[in-house]
Amino acid sequence: MIRTIYLDNAATSFPKPQSVEKAAARCMAGYCVNAGRSSHRLSRMADEKIFTAREELCSLFGINTPEQISFTYNTTYALNIGMKGVLKRGDHLIISSMEHNSVLRPAVSLSSAGVELSIAQADKNGEIVWKNIAPLIKPNTKMVALIHASNVTGRVNNIREIGLNLRKKGIIFLVDAAQSAGIVPINVKYDFIDILCFPGHKGLLGPSGTGGIYVSEKVNIKPYIQGGTGSMSESRFQPDFMPDMLESGTPNVCGIAALSEGVKFVRNNIKEIAEHESTLADELAEKLATLKGVRLLGRGGGKNTGIVGIALDGIPPAEAAYYLDRDYGIATRAGFHCSSLAAKTLETEKDGSLRFSFGPFNKRQDVEKASVAMMNILSR
Ligand code: ALA
Repeated sequence: MIRTIYLDNAATSFPKPQSVEKAAARCMAGYCVNAGRSSHRLSRMADEKIFTAREELCSLFGINTPEQISFTYNTTYALNIGMKGVLKRGDHLIISSMEHNSVLRPAVSLSSAGVELSIAQADKNGEIVWKNIAPLIKPNTKMVALIHASNVTGRVNNIREIGLNLRKKGIIFLVDAAQSAGIVPINVKYDFIDILCFPGHKGLLGPSGTGGIYVSEKVNIKPYIQGGTGSMSESRFQPDFMPDMLESGTPNVCGIAALSEGVKFVRNNIKEIAEHESTLADELAEKLATLKGVRLLGRGGGKNTGIVGIALDGIPPAEAAYYLDRDYGIATRAGFHCSSLAAKTLETEKDGSLRFSFGPFNKRQDVEKASVAMMNILSR
């Protein structure tokens, strides 16, 4: 059997650190009970693990109050909570032409409910800077929701510059950190972020089914769903305090316990991880650029994560991904990457692009194997 070379870390990171695997197994075997509801020992253990995870995330993102983080099932949930919980009829929302459908679709749904929507055009590399956003600001602009790093190209936007300008104008800055949390340093104070939506299962190296949202105390947010929170159980009304307000229903205790270990792993190694992943990506990009029929997406000049996105001439990206998997055991993702807007911006609307995404456990030889495989596939 061919050994899998996993280059699909932007979809979900794999493998996970051993500490993450062990934490999940320890929870399953020892305290996979409900948290925040009962007062028995096992429930208290689950509570503690969840609180520790909040503290780990606070250290990673420069957040002062652990209670301002609510856990969700993924970034999409967090984005829906953050956008739909804040915006109402008559408000103006700005997003960019590089947003994932997890921002675009809630934004479009909000626009049919009376929220005004503008889309800031990114440059040809898919990068957004303040000057792309500034002309769109109006008196009723309530929020700018922006992708930090593109899931198609890995291009990193300068969120600090944008956040600083929005803060001066009192506009809420929501950052979609689906491809940057645990990969690019983020500090909510330094970057002037009001709402941060992040996955647990990508750069933070936790299991799928984990994610979260940080909401600044200054933002007035309403819950997206209501239900049991373990607090104020005698009341028919949803608690109006974080994190309970946004955390109805039984939490994913084992997922969060494992995520906590992932965050710890990342927190201790973030610079090395970031450098390792982008070095591998740069090396692969350089090799692929020499192949006929390859167009690199969103590279040159700026900063990229460990993602290499390419457009192909002569072979549909989905077919190349199929051969990479079948003949070389290389796992990639092809198509539109749930980013219809990005495909338009990058001019890959016909059949999308092919994406290689590195994680902390990839090795130099993976770059070599991927580039040789692509050379063979393109010369068939
Ligand atoms: N948003 C994830 C990706 O880009 C799933 O693959």
